[in-house]
Amino acid sequence: MAPKSLLEINNLQFYWSKLDDFLIKIDNFVINKKEKVLILGESGCGKSTLLNLIGGILLPNQGKIFIDGDIISSLSPSSMDKYRAEHIGVIFQQFYLLDFISPLKNILLPCYFTNFKKKNYNFFLNRTYELAERLNLSREILNKNNSKDISVGQRQRISILRAIINMPKIILADEPTSSLDKKNQNSFLEMLFEVCKSENISLLMVSHDERLKNKFDKTINFRNLAV
Ligand SMILES: Nc1ncnc2c1ncn2[C@@H]1O[C@H](COP(=O)(O)OP(=O)(O)OP(=O)(O)O)[C@@H](O)[C@H]1O
Ligand SMILES: [Mg+2]
Repeated sequence: MAPKSLLEINNLQFYWSKLDDFLIKIDNFVINKKEKVLILGESGCGKSTLLNLIGGILLPNQGKIFIDGDIISSLSPSSMDKYRAEHIGVIFQQFYLLDFISPLKNILLPCYFTNFKKKNYNFFLNRTYELAERLNLSREILNKNNSKDISVGQRQRISILRAIINMPKIILADEPTSSLDKKNQNSFLEMLFEVCKSENISLLMVSHDERLKNKFDKTINFRNLAV
């Protein structure tokens, strides 16, 4: 792995079944430390599948995926869960918030998996409030009893905060701005970029939204990446 790279994919192949023609084949793909990369592609091309491979939710049929020198594609499922909680921030397309706990608890969830990374609860609570303010999320929203009682745009912002809260090495973001209006989209990107910069986090975002194109260090078309 090159010294500057944070994510490296080599010789990857993934298919759901040998019986259909869906295949993701990536010979080599690298994201450097602190780099912000956008992968653009139409619906169904395999963007979420690729993020699930990088996040260790799916295993490749062939090839290796490294994050910061660790071969994550050969970790056992429980080691992968631990690795993901420590080092990878994921913003899922369908958010996956737990409906019956507060938004605040949803955001802090990854911290419980990593024992608050030798810091304390108040450190992460203050960090949550600070980041939330920048996304126009009030304390009242954060402390609602049930996360099911908030709007789609608010759910999206909560899931963004959950991905950032634990200071990961890389954030994988699946269409994270699709339910936001332009103002919130811009403040989201601004905040995400700023946090990535100040905390040395690499960012991989996938989207179909061509308008995001010039905002990243690198933009790649899914079709050119995965043959
Ligand atoms: N669990 C699954 N089992 C079998 N096939 C699947 C599964 N999940 C997705 N697929 C197929 O894999 C292909 C890629 O799906 P994927 O969700 O990665 O696309 P996408 O680029 O994220 O699309 P979108 O922009 O609509 O989110 C699609 O043809 C889809 O039907
Ligand atoms: Mg998708």
